[in-house]
Amino acid sequence: MFNSKVIGTGHYVPEKKVTNEDLSEIMETSDDWIQERTGIKERRWASKELGETASTMAAKASEIAIKKAGLTHKDIDFIVFATLSPDYYFPGGGVQVQHLLGMHTIGALDVRAQCSGFIYGISVADQFIKTGMYKNVLVVAAEAQSGLLDKSTRGRNMAVIFGDGAGAIVLSRTEDNNKGVLSTHLHSEGQYAEELALTSPNPSKWVKHFKDDKEDLSYFPYMNGPFVFKHAVTRFSEAIVEGLDQNNFSAEDIDLLIPHQANLRISQFVQKRFKLSDNQVYNNIQKYGNTTAASIAIALSEAVEQNKIKENDIVVLAAFGSGFTWGSVILRW
Ligand code: UT7
Repeated sequence: MFNSKVIGTGHYVPEKKVTNEDLSEIMETSDDWIQERTGIKERRWASKELGETASTMAAKASEIAIKKAGLTHKDIDFIVFATLSPDYYFPGGGVQVQHLLGMHTIGALDVRAQCSGFIYGISVADQFIKTGMYKNVLVVAAEAQSGLLDKSTRGRNMAVIFGDGAGAIVLSRTEDNNKGVLSTHLHSEGQYAEELALTSPNPSKWVKHFKDDKEDLSYFPYMNGPFVFKHAVTRFSEAIVEGLDQNNFSAEDIDLLIPHQANLRISQFVQKRFKLSDNQVYNNIQKYGNTTAASIAIALSEAVEQNKIKENDIVVLAAFGSGFTWGSVILRW
């Protein structure tokens, strides 16, 4: 058996910054409310004019990750792409990433696990590498979700939170079983699917229905914020404990925790729960908002760029979100 290890990271965020003040001009909200409840100061929105989509941003982040890994696109054996905002309903965005990067006809798999998409993606790639089937797998996560949001006062509980961007890693085979991905932990609870969901397009009420029914809100995402929040704080903690236990680690062993950037209050709750210092937790929600599947990938890439992770560090990734899905990854860098 082999292990898989991160050998390259990259991220890309759109140029267009949208501040809380910008949002308060188009809906009833305020900088104070948004910062107090979520910690967010600004987010990025993909540019329609530039044709930015989940797959174009994913390709940009991937190019950086592949270059930093010291590889070229020809060395990648497989793509795992996580998003909830693909360019098309079908095909999934993985094939577009494959095409944009000029890769040969390698497989491209789409992961539909929303905020936990990057965690699920790492787990899938890790299995392919562990069994020896592939050597270098690109795991990329991207969201262009600003185009889906209801940007009126009616949709403000979601519109102020979510942002766009992409992050990528190259996971590669290592023969050192003490390095890289030590374990991954995945969970779901579909009974709560509708607490955070976008339920259309939906084959049972196709586009014609939408055109005929102007009151149909099913084409906008819905979130029961306080309900999701309560589950998030519990599941985040469980996923971290599960990963630590499996590896005989305790919270003191964590060098860096990168939680999914859902809400700064959730991250702070988890930080307190595990008695971690500010240096042990990476947050960037202040500048990007919640970028769903991309959030951990972007944060990991930034943390690497800022030299916050050293050789042999124990890095914990944890996510919770729509599905509900949640999970964690324990890495020795
Ligand atoms: O990434 C996937 C997982 N997602 C999450 O983990 C998100 C979890 N949930 C949350 O982060 C929080 O629930 C929110 C930030 C979404 C909302 O914060 P909250 O403290 O739970 O507020 P609330 O939904 O209970 O709403 C409180 C009040 C309401 O007004 P009333 O009924 O008290 O008069 C809302 O209408 O705040 C109002 N409100 C807003 N006011 C100004 C909701 N959104 C806004 C807004 N600006 N953007």
